[in-house]
Amino acid sequence: MSVDRRRGTSGSSVGMPMDRVDGRLKVTGSATYAAEFRVLDLTHAVLVQSPIARGRIARLDTAAAAAAPGVLGILSHLNAPRLPHLKSAVYEGGAAIQTVLPLGDDAIHYVGQPIAVVVAETWEQAQHAAALVRAEYQPGQVRGPLETRLNEAYPPRPFFGGITADYARGDPAAGLGAAAIRVEQTYTTPIEHHNPMEPHAAIAVWHGAAELTVYDTTQGAAWSRQGLAEALEIGADKVRVICPFVGGGFGTKGGTWPYAILAPLAARHVGRPVKLVLTRAQMFTSVGYRSQTLQELQLGALPEGTLTAITHSSTSIGSGVGENPEPAPEVTKILYACPNLETHLRLVQLDLGVPTSMRAPGETPGTFALESAMDELAIALDIDPIELRLRNYADTDPASGMPWSSNGLRECYAQGAECFDWARRNPRPRSMRDGRWLVGWGMATASYPTHGFPAQATATITADGRAVVRSATADLGTGQYTVMTQVAADALGLRPDQVKFELGDSDMPYAFVAGGSSGVRSVGPAVRAACEAARAKLLRLATSEDESYASILARHGLAEVTGEGSVDEVEAADGHRVNAFGAQFVEVRVDPDLGLVRVSRALGVFDIGQVLNPKTARSQAIGGIVWGIGMALLERTAIHPTLAAVVSTNLTSYLLPVHADVPAVDAFFVDVRDPYVNSLGAKGAGELGITGVAAAIANAVYHATGKRIRDLPISPEKLL
Ligand code: MOS
Repeated sequence: MSVDRRRGTSGSSVGMPMDRVDGRLKVTGSATYAAEFRVLDLTHAVLVQSPIARGRIARLDTAAAAAAPGVLGILSHLNAPRLPHLKSAVYEGGAAIQTVLPLGDDAIHYVGQPIAVVVAETWEQAQHAAALVRAEYQPGQVRGPLETRLNEAYPPRPFFGGITADYARGDPAAGLGAAAIRVEQTYTTPIEHHNPMEPHAAIAVWHGAAELTVYDTTQGAAWSRQGLAEALEIGADKVRVICPFVGGGFGTKGGTWPYAILAPLAARHVGRPVKLVLTRAQMFTSVGYRSQTLQELQLGALPEGTLTAITHSSTSIGSGVGENPEPAPEVTKILYACPNLETHLRLVQLDLGVPTSMRAPGETPGTFALESAMDELAIALDIDPIELRLRNYADTDPASGMPWSSNGLRECYAQGAECFDWARRNPRPRSMRDGRWLVGWGMATASYPTHGFPAQATATITADGRAVVRSATADLGTGQYTVMTQVAADALGLRPDQVKFELGDSDMPYAFVAGGSSGVRSVGPAVRAACEAARAKLLRLATSEDESYASILARHGLAEVTGEGSVDEVEAADGHRVNAFGAQFVEVRVDPDLGLVRVSRALGVFDIGQVLNPKTARSQAIGGIVWGIGMALLERTAIHPTLAAVVSTNLTSYLLPVHADVPAVDAFFVDVRDPYVNSLGAKGAGELGITGVAAAIANAVYHATGKRIRDLPISPEKLL
């Protein structure tokens, strides 16, 4: 049999750098995204949004809008049905991040809150009519920025199934007292916005009064179905959510946002299907953001580097319409073998929409603070930063005491250091130059738990000897279609091109949101189990070992055979703590006159367990590192201090790294066997890559310039 490196051969496609099975559809424009489904009799909805952050609607006049050409109906608090208070995804396991829905009353909670939905025959007519809606407001006193109101900070309730506001082990005060050296610093990160290429969109189609189909852009069709069912107070079995392709998610498509609920409400109101697509500007006001954080860290250590205590307190944004604490100190609990440790989480309520998970929520800002502080400690102790980390290496999970399911961090440090030539680094700041550029090298640890969630799949072997495998998961561009095809092909003993993997339909076997880097870890084993079950069913019918699937089915007069696979309890991993690790290495060049920072080299070395597809995994890692460059140097959503409005709702002023900002980034994976995480030995790659990058860059900037920047982004004026 000829072996095609790109397509794999039967039974051995896992581990091959297979091209994306959906790549051709995407580059030819034939992948259908939520807003592109063709629906008969479709109408178009446009949101009217509040320009004020707090107060009441004093008067709303929709008469001119209602009389405009093509207008079919207008929903506002004057005529919209009262919706229930949704169960919070964060606290109560519901599907909604924003629990207070718009149009319920005249109260305004944030700039951009929908106050009306205008439906018309065309999008242009709806847009025109929306501009004719007249609203008068009774403004309230907008509350000031987070950093000015820390005295009002309050602890969140336990969230995400067990994270508590306060955590402690050992005796942190005694540990700090026993320290020879202490680092005590505050690190701050701004609001950032996800802005996936595909904006949020929904097409809602009612079938009679009680059955609903929504084409929504979502990280979890089944989850989105649950949120819609709760909001509209209809049975989940009456709702179908379809989403075969997602143009980027990063967390913002992980919950049921108001737009997705307003589309079916509007459709019911006008008695026709409705399409609602957020504009790029609305992406800054309507679907969450990464919270600002203010993080205070204390590290205490003995002269030879042993950590005696860590304290990490983080304050993030609360909102009047829902909560989602940014769990920045989570990583600090597990990363180093420190016996005395405490962490605290607090919220300050601002007049903004709800923040939400954004690529490696918690770890992304958390590793910036912790890994910057570790660098400061290394400098204070005059110990190499990698050596300091090795002296505090956590051989088991220091929070739970459980062994790791696998831990390749030592190899990440070693192989990364060797590849990067770290030994050549002169530790003295401002010691390396290239012409007029100051050169700096920095490193940091990457860490993400790669969560496990319940997942189910079916595998159907058909009369032609091929297979269709299904699970209601999502592919956010991560490669889920591709790697699940590989997993299924191997489990079935087929070539990948004989397997079709389908996802993105709530009628398929249940899968939780494709978030928390959970897809490979949870859906992977469910797919494998379903395929093994289908194969076992067929093999029981077989008379000889080399009989093909097609001939077994034909001999028994069967059209197909289906196996089911299910993964229920994946967090436990047989008493092992699951975590993916990595080491980030960065070289920067800093213009000493302009304060301009250029990343000239970036290398990430990661432990994700078994790599299902080195090509898509490497793309994930590189994407994360590029985003880390943006976070470190460019990204910041500016909020007006007294109006609480996003100052510029566009991608001209929200700076992102472009090609000229990104050097040739390299990433590779260390070879790690993980016998505990799941039947695939695979941990998950989606979120790990961004963690540690901002700290590695800040550490490199310090090495280049002797200036420590603890407030992101590291914009030029901070270095002058
Ligand atoms: Mo992710 S930020 O858990 O989708």
